[in-house]
Formats: sequence, C-alpha cells, structure tokens
Amino acid sequence: MSTLSEEEKNKYLKELFEFLKLPSVSADSKFSDYMNTTASWLSNELSKSGCDLVNIYETNGYPIVYGEKIINPSYPTILVYGHYDVQPPDPLELWTSPPFNPIIKKTDIHPEGAIFARGACDDKGQVFMHVKAFEQLIKKDKLNCNVKFMIEGEEEVGSENLEKFLLDNKSKLDADVILISDTGLSDLKNPTFTVGLRGLSYMEVKLTGPNRDLHSGTYGGTLANPINILSELISSLIDKKGRIAIPGFYDDVVEIEKSKRDIIEEKSIFNIQKFKNSLGLAELKGEEGYSTLERKSIRPTLDVNGIWGGYIGEGSKTVIPSEAYAKISMRLVPNQNWKKISELFKNHIKNITPETVSVEVSTHHGGNPYVTPEDFKGYESAINAYRDSFGVEPIPQKDGGSIPIVPMFESILGIKTVLMGFGLDSDAIHSPNENFGVKNFFMGIETIQNFYKHFGS
Ligand code: BES
Ligand code: MN
Ligand code: MN
Repeated sequence: MSTLSEEEKNKYLKELFEFLKLPSVSADSKFSDYMNTTASWLSNELSKSGCDLVNIYETNGYPIVYGEKIINPSYPTILVYGHYDVQPPDPLELWTSPPFNPIIKKTDIHPEGAIFARGACDDKGQVFMHVKAFEQLIKKDKLNCNVKFMIEGEEEVGSENLEKFLLDNKSKLDADVILISDTGLSDLKNPTFTVGLRGLSYMEVKLTGPNRDLHSGTYGGTLANPINILSELISSLIDKKGRIAIPGFYDDVVEIEKSKRDIIEEKSIFNIQKFKNSLGLAELKGEEGYSTLERKSIRPTLDVNGIWGGYIGEGSKTVIPSEAYAKISMRLVPNQNWKKISELFKNHIKNITPETVSVEVSTHHGGNPYVTPEDFKGYESAINAYRDSFGVEPIPQKDGGSIPIVPMFESILGIKTVLMGFGLDSDAIHSPNENFGVKNFFMGIETIQNFYKHFGS
C-alpha cells in the first residue's frame, strides 16, 4: 500500500523520467559529458528534496554526488549508497522503445505498468526511491534519522575510485548503517530480503600464436591455432561435476551445513519451472549436489563473458588467427578473497598453456562477497519495514550479484550494510528493455520510509 497521493505519484514518475533521459553510461567515454550532467542533475534533486549540504566530489573517474541532512548529531545516521551510472544500452535494435526515452508500458508481470529505460531498475529508479522517501519524511515531519547520500558514477565499471574516497573521508561518511537499493526481491506478494552478495573476480586472457594471421590452407595443420587452444583451456576450467578445476579455488569456501541449506530451501518460493520458462530453457546445468537456488546464490561460479579472435565479419575468410581473447569472470562466496582468486586463476592459466602459444592474463576488477549480519539493528529494522509494507514476513535470501564496494564499507568504514532492493529478475537489468514496475517503485518509497521509522526509534 502506498501512502502517496496520485498527484505525488505522477510528479515522482515525471521527475524520474528526467533522470532516466540522461544517458549516463560509465563504460563508454563518448557519454562522459552526460556523466557530469547527470551528477549535477542529481545533486540539484538532493537539494530540492531537503538536503542541507550537497557536494559533487571529483575523482580520477566520474564524480561522486554527496548530500546530507543532519537533524541531530545524537540520532542514528543512515548512509544511502547507490549509483547513477548505467550499463551500455547495446544491442539497441532489440529495444522495443529507445533506452533513454522512458515510457510506461503494461506487461504480464506488471499489469499496472513498468517503466522501460536503461537504468530504470539498475540503479536510477532505485536511487530515486531514496530521494523521494527522504522528501516524504521531511514533508510529513517524520524524519527521525540523520541522512547521508553517496551516489557514485562508476559502479558498473568496478567502483575503482570509490575506495580512495572512503579512505579519505572516513569521518564525513561516519554512519550507523549503509542502506542500499540495488538488488531485487522475489515478488511483491512474498518478498525476499537480500542478505548476501557474491564477490567477483573479472579476468582477461590473451593467447598469441603466429606473428600474423595466416592462410589456413598454406599453414593449417602445422601449428597451434590460438582459438583452438583457448577453447581447450576454457573447457578444462570446469569439470564433469560442474566444479571449477583451478587448484585451491575452493580452499576458503565456507560450506554451509546441509540442515541449514534445507531450511532455506524449504522457506523459499523459488520455482524451477517458472525459472526455466522465463529463460526459454528446457534444461538447466550446474554444480552437482546443489539446487538451482544454491547454484545462483551460495556457490562460486566461472563464466566466459566474451570470446573473440580471427574472422567474425560477414561471410567467410580462411584464416588462422594470430590472437585469441576471452573475458572470464568468477563469482565468489564467503570467505573467498578476490585478489587471491585472481592470482590462482592467473597462475593456473599460465601453467596449463602449452608452449605452442604465448599467454597474457590480466585482471579487470573485482570485489569480495558480503553477508549482512543478523544481530544488528539494521537487519531487524529491515525485516520490520518489509512486514509493515507488504503485510508478510520477508524471506531472507542471498543474491548472486555483486556490489564490490559493499564489503569495503565494512572493512574501511566499519559500517554494516542493509540491502533493500525492489527489482525483479524479469526487469532485464543489463539487457535490452530494462524495466522497473511502477508498483515496485512506489513500494520501495514506502518500505524505505518504514525502515527509517524502525531504525530511528
Ligand atoms: N545492481 C547490480 C548488482 C546486483 C543486481 C546485485 C541484481 C544483486 C541482484 C550492480 O549494478 C551490478 O551490475 N554489479 C555487477 C558488478 C560490477 C563490478 C560490474 C555485477 O554483479 O555483475
Ligand atoms: Mn546496480
Ligand atoms: Mn548493474
């Protein structure tokens, strides 16, 4: 149930549309002007919504938007984190409406409408819920916590400059909880509450064979084709049981007892058939001995994100390529360390590469996994907030995605994180036709206000 008037709802959607129209793509430098426009647009919104102090902090990359309202230094402080950068919209031709021209359309999943635009759910729509929840609390004279907003512009490219910002601004960022809406929930009837994120280690492999591309007739059969070798290397990384075959990879993984896993499974409303249908798949695949829900949350994974080399243009060209490339990422679980895993990966690839090619392995970025502890006020306040808004007990569940900065809030600032996300798996984040349910947006605004109510009491 939303406590917003129709007029407020329309106004908030209209404002969100302005935000979504700005193409703040962090991965592609041709959008860099828009990154600054978006940061100043957002800082202006923070001022309008009631922040007393607003600043745009320059970094070596894109700026960080900061805003705060300190009503009483002895009250609890909530630090809201989110990101205003979005993923590139490609492939453009698969969008049914332009990615930076937001529009509300009714869908089977969202009969009351969903906002279609890049960033609608990840993360502009969800950041904006916080701005509006804060505005509402002030308007109703119910703000009972100090608030700090820290909205960055580089989450989708690894948050590389945010660590320094945390280290340099420890006292400014002091707070009692970090509150983030950048994840999802199962559905609005039986919502899950995200209590964990996986870590990430993102690597790139380059194999070089002959010193130039060769005629595959003249030279074929005499030397190693780097793409063939790369395929062999990649297929050796996961064994028949779906386990990752890098020595030492599982050494630090904390195994969860079967009895605990069974309880999670029992509480869950995850439906395998629906999951398969939503993906157009007849069968699934994964690590032996674990359910699909476990495979997508509490188990580590290894995936090739892209592989290229040789001729990929129209028609055919007979060629043995000189080079072959792959981008490979690993999702990590407690208590794996992404830097250690990146080293293991690097050494293993070097060890198994034959002398017929040369190899280079580099690290893109990474982050450690995170688990929200149960024994602190933020956790309890979140549970209560969901209960107030949805009328049911939320189901705690770990999510498979990653937000690399979250474990650093703990290690650098000593602050625990609450993840209150309102997206659905079907929102197509990072994909064409990203969308965010209008109802999810308003439920988010409601639930965030309820979180303040409990956390500040
Ligand atoms: N908001 C997502 C993370 C997410 C999505 C967590 C859904 C849980 C459920 C975030 O913007 C993201 O895309 N993170 C990246 C990592 C980043 C370093 C590019 C990811 O998880 O791939
Ligand atoms: Mn995000
Ligand atoms: Mn994302």
